Amino acid sequence: MKTFEYPQSAAWFQRAVQVIPCGIYGHFSPAPCPPVSAYPFFGARAKGARFWDVDGNEFIDYMCAYGPMILGHGNPVVDEAYQAQMREADSNSIASTRMVELAEYLVDLVPIADWAFFAKNGADVTNYAVMIARAATGRSKIIGIQGGYHGTSPWMQAPGHHGLIEADHQHVIRIPWNDLGTLEQAINRHANDVAGFIATPYHHPVFADSELPADGYWSSVEKLLRKHGIVFIIDDVRCGFRLHMGGSCEHFGFKPDLICFCKAIANGYPISALVGVEALKSAAAKVFHTGSYWFSAGPMAAALATLQELRRLDAPNLLREKGRKLNDGLVRIAKSHGYTLKVTGDPGMAYYRITEDPSLMLHQDWCAECTRRGAFFTSHHNWFLSTAHTDEDFQRTWDIADAAFEGVGSRD
Ligand SMILES: Cc1ncc(COP(=O)(O)O)c(C=O)c1O
Repeated sequence: MKTFEYPQSAAWFQRAVQVIPCGIYGHFSPAPCPPVSAYPFFGARAKGARFWDVDGNEFIDYMCAYGPMILGHGNPVVDEAYQAQMREADSNSIASTRMVELAEYLVDLVPIADWAFFAKNGADVTNYAVMIARAATGRSKIIGIQGGYHGTSPWMQAPGHHGLIEADHQHVIRIPWNDLGTLEQAINRHANDVAGFIATPYHHPVFADSELPADGYWSSVEKLLRKHGIVFIIDDVRCGFRLHMGGSCEHFGFKPDLICFCKAIANGYPISALVGVEALKSAAAKVFHTGSYWFSAGPMAAALATLQELRRLDAPNLLREKGRKLNDGLVRIAKSHGYTLKVTGDPGMAYYRITEDPSLMLHQDWCAECTRRGAFFTSHHNWFLSTAHTDEDFQRTWDIADAAFEGVGSRD
């Protein structure tokens, strides 16, 4: 099987580092995907479940832009809704009625939602949620989960990252996932000063297995937070509309006060949303939070079309079914080469790890060898499926995975 080379990507990267810090920053940085020589850096085009890099190499996309492309690249229904709106108006000097329609749609779709608010990125709405919690309670502290990610604002970044100061974390308490005892202790230690608790619906850190909520975890958390008047925030930026159309809390059977959505909400068009309960509506109205592009109507039209399509397709169940099929095949192929591929998290956005090598180097090597052959796999992050992934894509991926294990094995 042919392995790819990336001379054009490398040449563009040389140009990039001259004028852009790190060349490519943030989650698209090549750094977490070793060896970097196995990965393309710059894309040229994308369609459905595939993308092509600047060297013309074709990849089956298992990252879906790190989550947004839930219906696949260039979905015609969503693109047409977006373009129709763009022909009318996008960033105008007054608000668009698409905003009202989208809020009405979310209030209808998400059981806990009595109102909705729109921004651009996930961090815009996780920040807003925390501000609402503080405004509503008059308290300071926010409890979050160790290894949980809610965006790049200073309070959300892990302590020790460059550019942070101690004060950024002064009011943030990090506790282990699935640990009720520590949550209770943190609440008691800061009696009457905990404004909010923020967590993802299940734990999906990088470089580590995903962990589902333990039986009874969410109902106990909900009870505890209610007892102490603490605002319950679910960061559904990554999982939202992948686990359940009503918010991932519906999948796990609990009711938060605020839910943050982004990524899959508009199939790649830039928009995020915060939805919340009636009791927090007046606090939300008092908090000043806005941005230059937060009223752009094109992405709102795209979000409406995306949500309607996801509902029509019963996307969460479809993605789960596709995920199970892909994962069973990969696990079987790994086994045939004498390896154990551990799959954790929801099947349609699972995290994978070859367990024989705890250093993750073998796993990184296998992901790199798959990527070089056309299945775009990262080794440190959960993958994402789209409704556009087909059985043919999976068969090709299994063939690649098989060949990649031989590639890995031949260097042992
Ligand atoms: C769970 C979670 N919350 C928040 C964010 C931040 O979103 P954004 O990068 O759009 O600000 C992310 C991004 O990956 C995320 O996965």
